[in-house]
Amino acid sequence: MDTLKPLIEKLPRVRLIPGPTPLHPLRGMPEKETAVPVYIKRDDLTGLGPGGNKLRSLEFILGHAIQEGADCIIASGPLQSNLCTLTAAACARLGLPCTLVVNGEKPEREEGNLLLNRLLGAETIYAGPVSSTARAVRVEEEYERLQFAGHHPFIVKNGATTGWGVLGYTVAAEEIRDQCRGARIKELTIFVPGGNGGVAAGLLYGNALLGRPLPIVVISVEDDRDLLTRHIEQVLQETEKITGTACPKPVSELGWIVDDYRGNGWGSNTEESAKMVLEFARREGIIIENVYNSKVVVGMRDWIRKGKVAQSACYLHTGGFGSLFSQY
Ligand SMILES: Cc1ncc(COP(=O)(O)O)c(C=O)c1O
Repeated sequence: MDTLKPLIEKLPRVRLIPGPTPLHPLRGMPEKETAVPVYIKRDDLTGLGPGGNKLRSLEFILGHAIQEGADCIIASGPLQSNLCTLTAAACARLGLPCTLVVNGEKPEREEGNLLLNRLLGAETIYAGPVSSTARAVRVEEEYERLQFAGHHPFIVKNGATTGWGVLGYTVAAEEIRDQCRGARIKELTIFVPGGNGGVAAGLLYGNALLGRPLPIVVISVEDDRDLLTRHIEQVLQETEKITGTACPKPVSELGWIVDDYRGNGWGSNTEESAKMVLEFARREGIIIENVYNSKVVVGMRDWIRKGKVAQSACYLHTGGFGSLFSQY
């Protein structure tokens, strides 16, 4: 199909992002001889709170929640969760009360996303230094408490990597394809982070339905390739049920899923990724963070150096700016 509009228009969605995010050239590789044009897709500029990828997922998750009659929202995550902050921003915009359940103790001084959560008016529950399973129990307790008080709460699950959440990046595939068409950019190989796999699942699915105009490289920042692939496959099955449209090919044939740049996994820098935050800021004037973005840029540059990018490359900046202030 040439457009996903008929598939998407019938689904509930709230508009949180003002329009297509910019796609523009970067200075690119430091060495000229390896140069292919390098672009950046600015999903750090999604328009609410500090910006970031999760707003795309929230357009559909919260659309679905409101359709189900929700009148307040609960989200949870690690202390500096980007999802929590963007949920707080989205709820502020929609006029919905928002409760956040985060791991860890309340710090004496709120930093980064914790400060933003307060400014955005969310109520934050500090669950203490507990596992994510124990945190989920705390979320359920809060859900029951709100229900008992007469509300219709809705829980944003699994870091927004859900069947509904994946639709955000399904739609983004068409946005990027159209921007390439408009700017006459040829065969844009797009490099994206893989955490829970929601961004990856959406782009791979949307791109597949559009006839695969974009080569996609998913750089795992957390799990090994097989596990990340399984996560993507699982969530995609949920999305297929929602849209009623099967993905035309198996996930493993839709792009490259690589785990070469993740080091010791989530939240731990590699030597190259730690350097890249500084180098990128000083070369491009654009701030990236350590957990999701710097490893993707390292991976993209490595692929370009090895001649694995045919025409042009693009780094998908997924935001995370709020958490940066607690990373140094
Ligand atoms: C800034 C940022 N980038 C990328 C990701 C990864 O997205 P996904 O979990 O959909 O793979 C996240 C997830 O929390 C994130 O906060």
